[in-house]
Amino acid sequence: MNPWEMSGEIKEQDYPKLIKEFGAKIIDDKLLNELKKFTGELHPFLTTKLFFAHRDLDTVLDDYSKGKEFYLYTGRGPSGKMHLGHLLPFIFTKWLQDKFDVDLLIQMTDDEKYLVRDIPMEEIRKNTHENILDILSLGFKKEKTHVIIDSEQSKILYNNAILFAKRLTASTAKAVFGLKDSDNVGKYFFTSMQAVPAFLLSAIKGRNIRCLIPYGIDQDDHFKLARDILPKLGYYKPSAIISKLMPSLQGSGKMSSSDPNSSIFLDDNEETVRRKINKYAFSGGRDTKEEQRKLGANPDIDFAFNMYRFLEPDQTKVDKVYSEYKSGRMLSGEMKALSADAINAFLSKLRSRRESIKDDVDSYMFDVDRFK
Ligand code: TYM
Repeated sequence: MNPWEMSGEIKEQDYPKLIKEFGAKIIDDKLLNELKKFTGELHPFLTTKLFFAHRDLDTVLDDYSKGKEFYLYTGRGPSGKMHLGHLLPFIFTKWLQDKFDVDLLIQMTDDEKYLVRDIPMEEIRKNTHENILDILSLGFKKEKTHVIIDSEQSKILYNNAILFAKRLTASTAKAVFGLKDSDNVGKYFFTSMQAVPAFLLSAIKGRNIRCLIPYGIDQDDHFKLARDILPKLGYYKPSAIISKLMPSLQGSGKMSSSDPNSSIFLDDNEETVRRKINKYAFSGGRDTKEEQRKLGANPDIDFAFNMYRFLEPDQTKVDKVYSEYKSGRMLSGEMKALSADAINAFLSKLRSRRESIKDDVDSYMFDVDRFK
């Protein structure tokens, strides 16, 4: 697995191994309790261990408790329509921003998608605009959210990216990403662009500020490199909070844009959501109604239940559904209907927010003067 390619599939039991290999740490109960001291509660993505690993999250919290600020940074490569999997880090980032009331940089890597995919620049620009709206429709704080489009902020990004690029050799990029001589040189350079927002506020303000980056595990290579190189530029290593990848509806492989039936897209209408869940969602229930009543389901591996628990804010409701389904009192069809309702309610809220901010996107765009 690297940010641009994934062969095979990651199974639940592979994650601890991957994390060990990558040199990150599992988020343990002690760290969760530490975090809870500041947030008051834990997001379901933490209690369900969707966000399960970190780098230096403890240091960020330690410093924060001593009154030292930090900021958040995450991003999206606008290669096409967004699905629910892409939205997970943003949902979680919004929760962190609400809890800590900190600045957030969102990087849109249109340059990356031009370099690594066969998509015309014009289409990427259209996706960029649509994806920004999708992301902002989650309701980020306007005055603290700063969207960076790589091609539009090229001056400030490039001037910082070259500092990074000078310390990254082609052989390291080759080894980390599995690049070949036949790969375009843009790919060799690109990590330097994705690394910049991890130190940009420190660079602008002229003092070191910690940066916490929520992302899916497929992005880890970029930030592993950034952790090596940033101290050489006099900055803190970036900290990270890392999630597993949401599986496809079918339960194997990751939710991916290239197979429309593997994913729920943000613009899927109510009927499509219902059809996809009914037809494709991997079920932890039994084959027959009789068996289900007798033996019950395994909700933990059930796509419909997992979506429901991610999206239903009322934990008592979630606990009740869990025990009803597990005991066999609830059937797969009922679970799927509940899940489709929760997804549709979530998507419909996004759509109406999207409509209301449509003409206000400019006020979320990165402006260096706001940090000086
Ligand atoms: P991109 O657009 O591929 O993905 C955006 C974010 O979504 C995560 N992700 C997923 N999370 C859970 N389940 C899935 N099935 C799934 N698919 C994707 C990704 O890990 C990512 O966090 N190069 C980046 C854009 C970027 C970025 C960043 C991402 C720039 N700066 C800083 C994270 C943090 C990209 O193409 O992401």
